[in-house]
Amino acid sequence: MTTVVNQPAAGGAAQQAAGLPRLLPAAPEDLRAHLARYGPAPYRNQSGALIADIEASGLAGRGGAAFPVHRKLAAVARAGVRQGRTVVVANGAESEPASRKDELLLQLAPNLVLDGLQLTAEAVGAAEAHLYLHYAPGPQILRALAERAARGLDRIAVTITQAPPRFLAGQETAVLNRLGGGPALPTFQPPRVSERGLGGAPTLVQNVETLAHLALIARYGPRWFRAVGTATEPGSMLTTIYRPDGKAHVREAAIGTPLRTLLGDGAGVQAWLVGGYHGTWLPVPDTAGFTLDNASLGRSGAAAGAGVLAALPSGRCGLTEAARVTRYLAAESAGQCGPCLNGLPRIAAALAELAGSGHRRQTLDDLKRWSGPQNLVEGRGACHHPDGTVRFVRSALAVFEPEISRHARGICSATDRGPFLPLPPGMPTREEDWT
Ligand SMILES: Cc1cc2nc3c(=O)[nH]c(=O)nc-3n(C[C@H](O)[C@H](O)[C@H](O)COP(=O)(O)O)c2cc1C
Ligand code: SF4
Repeated sequence: MTTVVNQPAAGGAAQQAAGLPRLLPAAPEDLRAHLARYGPAPYRNQSGALIADIEASGLAGRGGAAFPVHRKLAAVARAGVRQGRTVVVANGAESEPASRKDELLLQLAPNLVLDGLQLTAEAVGAAEAHLYLHYAPGPQILRALAERAARGLDRIAVTITQAPPRFLAGQETAVLNRLGGGPALPTFQPPRVSERGLGGAPTLVQNVETLAHLALIARYGPRWFRAVGTATEPGSMLTTIYRPDGKAHVREAAIGTPLRTLLGDGAGVQAWLVGGYHGTWLPVPDTAGFTLDNASLGRSGAAAGAGVLAALPSGRCGLTEAARVTRYLAAESAGQCGPCLNGLPRIAAALAELAGSGHRRQTLDDLKRWSGPQNLVEGRGACHHPDGTVRFVRSALAVFEPEISRHARGICSATDRGPFLPLPPGMPTREEDWT
């Protein structure tokens, strides 16, 4: 069972001096409280005027890929001039089962996200805006939309669509397929959605957290945004943190914060998972000096992704955890592309065999080959699902190698065999239940 808390910055004199948290108030803020704190959305009354500020701020997307936001804004604005219309989409699908940050942000600060959506619509000249949500819209978001409509604050109407509870539902082409009335499945690019997206219109898809940061940059400027973070990766990001107690804590952290500050000093922990289920296992204590930024994490092939961080306690079997998550990821494949359709179930079954006892030597060799540098899965799908899954498996094989050897001899070092990493409700929790 996990709980979600908006944890104030721990040990955080430095964080508090930097003005964190920036995005998360302690309790849900209605429009009155939002306007009292921030004032109305600072429209520029000129398409494109915000883009230079966003470029100077260095804001990158918070949905997982850390793509520079100004480049997407500029591409959609340019394509819109040629095609005469554009669309903006706030992506709140939060399809990663371990992530809780977008849900919490939408509960606590819905008006910040909606300001960001309206401001991007102005920047790219959009007349159509969508909010795509994992859950049925909660009371906070419905109230925010109603209050804004009553005050005439929004320049364009916002259509809400609910995502199906599937891992791929938040991938941007899947989002657009769903908004267009079809199944939430990815499609091959190009054309990029910034060129031809919803209904053929150039479309901007941004994560809801990205939009909230953008709404603050529009008010306070790039220098303010850069007051925290690193020179190359400025600002803060929302993280969902699992400490050994297994509970989810959502916390806004400056980019560049030591992982130890977020995950603890590593005592009683065997490995950190960084970047969620498309992320990377890191051995502890070897990587204990790492910080929450892609420059630091990239040294071990990891990335911050959408900010899911987990500290796996020593008493759990990392191999079993990795096998369970990989089963889930394989089952979530949209089954449209050969390498993903055929490759992921085989990889998942092989990892499950290693997590049993007394695997065949050939299974380990196959798995190393299937997830190694020249594998036949990565880069071959319509979306990055196979790439992320293979990255997760590759790091598990490296970090849990001693456990693989133990399992080969019929020994598992776990003292607690309950599941640690969360999967969606209804998913099997034991290996036997997948078959
Ligand atoms: C399998 C998969 C699932 C994804 N799920 C989400 C999601 O739930 N929410 C999200 O914002 N982005 C998700 N993304 C990333 C989106 O495709 C897209 O890059 C993002 O919404 C863009 O917003 P950003 O640039 O503000 O991060 C996913 C990507 C992949 C490959
Ligand atoms: S790569 Fe896999 S998950 Fe992505 S679209 Fe193709 S089959 Fe579906």
